[in-house]
Amino acid sequence: MQNNVLILDFGSQYTQLIARRVRELNIFCEIKPYNKLPEDLSTYKAVVLSGSPYSVRGEDAPHPDLSQIQGKKPLLAVCYGAQYLAHFQGGNVAPSNTREYGRANLSFIKTNEPFFENVSTGSQVWMSHSDTIKDLPTNATLLASTNDVKNAAYKLEGEDTYAIQFHPEVYHSTDGKQLLENFLVHIAGVAQTWTPDSFVETTVAQLKEKIGTDKVILGLSGGVDSSVAAMLLHKAIGKNLHCIFVNNGLLRKDEFPSVLKQYEGMGLNVKGVDASARFLDELEGESDPEKKRKIIGRVFIEVFDDESHLVEDAKWLAQGTIYPDVIESVSATGGPSATIKSHHNVGGLPDFMKLSVVEPLRMLFKDEVRRVGASMGLDPLLLGRHPFPGPGLAIRILGDITREKVAILQEVDAIFINGLKDAGLYDKVWQAGAMLLPVNSVGVMGDERTYEKCVALRAVESTDGMTADWVNLPYEFLQKVSNDIINKVRGVNRVVYDISSKPPATIEWE
Ligand code: XMP
Repeated sequence: MQNNVLILDFGSQYTQLIARRVRELNIFCEIKPYNKLPEDLSTYKAVVLSGSPYSVRGEDAPHPDLSQIQGKKPLLAVCYGAQYLAHFQGGNVAPSNTREYGRANLSFIKTNEPFFENVSTGSQVWMSHSDTIKDLPTNATLLASTNDVKNAAYKLEGEDTYAIQFHPEVYHSTDGKQLLENFLVHIAGVAQTWTPDSFVETTVAQLKEKIGTDKVILGLSGGVDSSVAAMLLHKAIGKNLHCIFVNNGLLRKDEFPSVLKQYEGMGLNVKGVDASARFLDELEGESDPEKKRKIIGRVFIEVFDDESHLVEDAKWLAQGTIYPDVIESVSATGGPSATIKSHHNVGGLPDFMKLSVVEPLRMLFKDEVRRVGASMGLDPLLLGRHPFPGPGLAIRILGDITREKVAILQEVDAIFINGLKDAGLYDKVWQAGAMLLPVNSVGVMGDERTYEKCVALRAVESTDGMTADWVNLPYEFLQKVSNDIINKVRGVNRVVYDISSKPPATIEWE
């Protein structure tokens, strides 16, 4: 890949954000742990050193040999990176006496510096560090200071090496993206050619080359990632892609037939497998959330394994893994920390796990997956779908699962979700759904006393599901949805709205 940028990760919570900002500039980049420096650096046009929770002076602190990079490639060192670079070059890093967290304002020491093009002195930056660079290396020139941090930005003479104590990647550094652009585009000369169209073109060509005439199996979930992965593979290998879409009986109302039809309409070679009865039978009587998840995971593997046997000579298993999953499974300090876990390996791994894995989206962030999907003409309704958990309604029915409860919850959920769509609220919400509570309460309908079920509606805003807040839906909307549910769904006489944030609550109730 031409025009690639390497981000060397020292374990900062913001490393992924650096990658996001670089991608927003239409520049491709990869994150590698600092101790897994690729042997071949020829494809990288520039390198960024990330921040870190470590102190340069700490015993276990990352101290990689930068001699392959520094002075040889344009280099931008951020926060810990800047401190380590100073240390590596003979400068002095020591604990700071002043508070160096939060907002600060840059004051330029050196003017006419290309790194500061289109950035004005006084620009707000975000600091987060407890050590400080007391003395710069002798070959360094100070570029900018803040009130509390003298050595806030510097460069090394005679090379394209820049270092900044603040975080350009965070939103609160108002000119952070401009600084990244100045460094990557104007100083390092990286071309801004990373676009969804270019990604589709190169990925399809690579997939063709890699897979040839082999057969590939892919499990579709109805979600964005597996659908976009399927379309890329479909473009590359056509009918040799065999998609399997399993109905576990815990999908939303009418989801199985409608999504299956949509997939067929996209030209995919897809087989719908209705295994509802198998899942629901196995779940009977089980109320423990984790056990429900395990049962569903196991049955899915069994069903998928059976189905994959029906595709003769399949060589590959395609997955919709995306970049955050890849990064999370690699720790900055210890290399890959997660390997495939399987409670099936007692009797040998399922056969599909023995296939080679192909993951066409493993370098993309979620919003990039959506943009790639859009550039291939995927239905915006499919691309804009809320996340839905793999175990489906099973973890939204608190307690044991019965077919009757599934049917009730499907009706309630459909009224809520369609209501959000009709009111133009669906796209303003990150995820929404209904929970069927193991609670009966007294109500009155007509002259009759009722003793029926209670449902909780949940709608949250979030960016990644890690933290979330409840959405302030209009009272009139909640009133209408509540009325519709109670009037139309037999067995429900009470609706409540969940106003808990995550943390301390979670998005799902189980
Ligand atoms: P929580 O409830 O942990 O959910 O706040 C965060 C996000 O993860 C989804 N979720 C799951 N997804 N299998 C999945 O595929 C699961 O077991 C599972 N549990 C939660 C949840 O819907 C939300 O988007």
